Amino acid sequence: MASKGVVFYLLLVFVFFPHSFQESFYDAVVKRLDCFMFEDYGNITCSVNLKNRTTSFTQVDYVLTKNLEPIQNIVMYYQFGTVFRKFMIDVTEDFCAVIQGKGFKSPAHNVIMSSLKNHSNIGKECPYKKEKHYYVKDYVLDASKFPAALPNGKYRLDMRTIDKLNNQDVMMVKLYVDMRRKIALDILWN
Ligand SMILES: *[C@@H]1O[C@H](CO)[C@@H](O)[C@H](O)[C@H]1NC(C)=O
Ligand SMILES: *[C@@H]1O[C@H](CO)[C@@H](O)[C@H](O)[C@H]1NC(C)=O
Ligand SMILES: *[C@@H]1O[C@H](CO)[C@@H](O)[C@H](O)[C@H]1NC(C)=O
Repeated sequence: MASKGVVFYLLLVFVFFPHSFQESFYDAVVKRLDCFMFEDYGNITCSVNLKNRTTSFTQVDYVLTKNLEPIQNIVMYYQFGTVFRKFMIDVTEDFCAVIQGKGFKSPAHNVIMSSLKNHSNIGKECPYKKEKHYYVKDYVLDASKFPAALPNGKYRLDMRTIDKLNNQDVMMVKLYVDMRRKIALDILWN
């Protein structure tokens, strides 16, 4: 049981020194990655290498058989009991429009793209080019920009890519993430 003094102190730190928490509110680790691409569009492989309790490295590789203007739909799920239910995020972006600085850009976009930056060649050009090798290499999930109010538990992020011109599903990447707030924060929430 935390004393009122400790809680008050932590609140002060939050209000006046929010950057103290820039590192991360959470231990968040990608536990599993499933991916699928419709044959017409090319092929995709993906994997996760678990390093330890709090770190895993994520790999994705794909090659398209045609140029693609992607529509990106991202839905987050949270596991309640044994069932994943939609939770907080359901956004759809016209990816090329976003890259060109127009069109709706979701808050999730910057979080994902900035943390992918040094580990991927995805999202730097549009449309996606056929026969080009797109990859995510040795990516470690960066939880430092996640909102502070997420509950502990198991999350799933479904990232669906749709072919804008033909309105067809192209590929799906499902990211399974275990997330746990760091100890100091539990004092505030419990
Ligand atoms: C994926 O597609 C590329 C280009 O079409 C091809 O060169 C490669 O062999 C394919 N890989 C697999 C695992 O099917
Ligand atoms: C897990 O591995 C990462 C990367 O090698 C390292 O930075 C981190 O300190 C390790 N954490 C634990 C709890 O061992
Ligand atoms: C990417 O790498 C550069 C130099 O290696 C580094 O300065 C920068 O902070 C890195 N960016 C991210 C988002 O990790």
